[in-house]
Amino acid sequence: MISTEFILPCGAKLKNRLVKSAMTERISNKNFEPTVGLERLYKQWSDSGAGLLITGNVVIDRRHLESAGNVCFDDEHMLPKIRSWAREATSNGNHAWVQISHSGRQTNKFSTGRPLAPSEVQLKKMGLFGKPKAMTEEDIQDVIKGFVNAAKISKNAGFTGVQIHSAHGYLLSQFLSPITNKRTDKWGGSIENRSRLLITIIREVRKEVGNDFPIAVKLNSADFQRGGFIEEESLEVVKMLDIERIDLLEISGGTYEKLAFFILNEEGKEVKESTKRREAYFIEFAKKIRAISNLPLMITGGFRSYGFCNEVLQSGEVDLIGMARPFITNMKDIPGFLEGEVPVLENLVVRTGMKQFEDAAEGGFYARQLIRFSKGKELKVNMSPLWCSMFLIIYEFRKAMAKKFL
Ligand SMILES: Cc1cc2nc3c(=O)[nH]c(=O)nc-3n(C[C@H](O)[C@H](O)[C@H](O)COP(=O)(O)O)c2cc1C
Repeated sequence: MISTEFILPCGAKLKNRLVKSAMTERISNKNFEPTVGLERLYKQWSDSGAGLLITGNVVIDRRHLESAGNVCFDDEHMLPKIRSWAREATSNGNHAWVQISHSGRQTNKFSTGRPLAPSEVQLKKMGLFGKPKAMTEEDIQDVIKGFVNAAKISKNAGFTGVQIHSAHGYLLSQFLSPITNKRTDKWGGSIENRSRLLITIIREVRKEVGNDFPIAVKLNSADFQRGGFIEEESLEVVKMLDIERIDLLEISGGTYEKLAFFILNEEGKEVKESTKRREAYFIEFAKKIRAISNLPLMITGGFRSYGFCNEVLQSGEVDLIGMARPFITNMKDIPGFLEGEVPVLENLVVRTGMKQFEDAAEGGFYARQLIRFSKGKELKVNMSPLWCSMFLIIYEFRKAMAKKFL
């Protein structure tokens, strides 16, 4: 089943059902452009045989970075470099889509001390994030234009689709959540108002890219925070998306405050044995979506075994399987997995034994491997978890220095 093709509503065809989900690469050059290292990385992923590769966060505004190493699609002069990246990323007949994003209040202080956000609700995490400025109507219109422009650049460069990032606590997800969106104008309040920015962006991007270009949306099932975006609201958003012309809905969950997409489960707790047996973190929520929507559906998080992937595809619970970390630790096994010759892609789990450092250690370990691959190096398994947990802060600081933000 996983090796069978899939036709999207816009008519585009994926050669199989395996998708490399977004993983931020952090390897742009000083001008926020893609590098040869990024091309090298995507060539390897294209060769893995997956039907679709989704890039990590590509931001629309270089003042609002998810990482100081982000690529930013805000300037058509970058097109030659972006074209080279797209060429390598699609070299094996697969699709490659750009994950378009704006970090809002989750932009760290290394790039701005005063990020834009729906409301002035500060993210409190290790003192790394500044107090946001509530967006004006003009700021909101600029963000809409930014997404449209990035989609235009993606298409012109030869990427074969885009994914609008509306999950994980970034700007569009901040608009959806009542914790971060306290607005009383048409962009806040009811769930219809909180979804307005996402829906407007989808419509404007569709106008720009035309009817036969895939548009995906990444949405949280929930934020897993008291008073935050909850499953019932997510289902309301799904109903709205159902009548827009999108080609794929990817479900994830959590924010920087609760990293459910990473090491936590649907309830925001460490993945339980019961969920592990069913592998995928968001599979129960997928069933609820199926009951109310006809959108092509993909969930990401936890999928590891060939048998289970085929089971959920065959039962129709999802249409596509999203995987991230196995594309780092098990990259060489992916072709065999697609053939059914490798039954399990068990990725490495990095733990320091100290609760407050676990997400940073896991994130740092995987980030370091991506940087290694971009330099043509191999996977390095033995790395100190504690050092990995500090790596990202040091790396971000150095990248920001190199880009002269500081
Ligand atoms: C190093 C790393 C970077 C990530 N960056 C992104 C990102 O840029 N955008 C995104 O939507 N998700 C990102 N994620 C989340 C993954 O797409 C995925 O949801 C998560 O790793 C769970 O899937 P897995 O269990 O197959 O790894 C990242 C995950 C990792 C490990």
